Amino acid sequence: MQTLTQHLTSQAVNDSLSQLILTLADTSKAISHAVRHGALAGVLGATEQENVQGETQKKLDIITNDMLKDALKADGTVRGLASEEEDHVVEVSKGGQYLVCFDPLDGSSNIDINSLVGTIFSVLPAPAGELTETSFLQSGRAQLAAGYVLYGPSTMLALTTGQGVQLFTLHPETNEFLLTDAAMSISPDTAEFAINMSNQRFWEAPMQTYIADLLLGKIGPREKSFNMRWIAAMVGDVHRVLSRGGIFTYPTDNKDAKKPYKLRLMYEANPMAFLVEQAGGKASTGYETILDIIPTQIHQRVAVILGSSNEVDACLSYHGLDYSEEPNLD
Ligand code: AHG
Ligand code: MN
Ligand code: MN
Repeated sequence: MQTLTQHLTSQAVNDSLSQLILTLADTSKAISHAVRHGALAGVLGATEQENVQGETQKKLDIITNDMLKDALKADGTVRGLASEEEDHVVEVSKGGQYLVCFDPLDGSSNIDINSLVGTIFSVLPAPAGELTETSFLQSGRAQLAAGYVLYGPSTMLALTTGQGVQLFTLHPETNEFLLTDAAMSISPDTAEFAINMSNQRFWEAPMQTYIADLLLGKIGPREKSFNMRWIAAMVGDVHRVLSRGGIFTYPTDNKDAKKPYKLRLMYEANPMAFLVEQAGGKASTGYETILDIIPTQIHQRVAVILGSSNEVDACLSYHGLDYSEEPNLD
């Protein structure tokens, strides 16, 4: 089996980007180690602090953020970073060519119940000149690499540099990422959806009707039965979609008028959309393709609908209809 280093060489990824990817991968090994020790290392539980988005930070949100920040500072290829757990962009190395956006610990509500968590990252080119927030506001199409690490029963890294999606499994004894799937591919059709159903009453009409039709199963307009899954960690849900197809959505809702979307564009939606498109799937907000959005803020949030191409199209077809009437959910 190919190691990650051998794989990057075989794909002719340039030296500096390879070095950065290996730094991210090495840090994820250390995060995997910390996560695995859990209560034994005293890393579980919450802190007294909130991040800029008003979310209480878990101890591991801060620990993993610091681990990635320290590693990227030492790497030398990184001009600046943006993180879910940093209020502002952070200047890293003057001579660095890359910007890195990351969610150091995705699914952090899962950490105290020993359930799935992950790390998500996105690499952008660093524009010349002074580093500001504007340097980061590039569309997802500009990403040079993206990936996630899933800390599950095994630790896995899914990676794209724009040449498909490769999946690596961390060997527990040698501590080496080994290539276990050279070409992840999302089946175009599926009978599995992922959505937090508890928000149903807050969704827009198109999503209400789309999900209602899935729930009708064989007797509804879709004429087939659907199954549902929800891991509460985007990394886990997207990994399932990449592994066996499916549709994952965190749609627009009006639960909190100030926060109509949950997931963050720069370090959740964009890297996942890049992976999903590279595996043959689709990723949209319902109204536009995620990778085509021009960001306006590093922490901006978006609606996300991604996965099996025909199923995403089916969902989008509801968004094109006239939903001025309230849907009939009887
Ligand atoms: P994070 O832990 O990085 O804040 O992200 C959590 C996100 C995402 O991973 C997941 O899909 C979603 O929040 C779960 O939201 P609910 O708790 O509303 O189900
Ligand atoms: Mn997250
Ligand atoms: Mn997070």
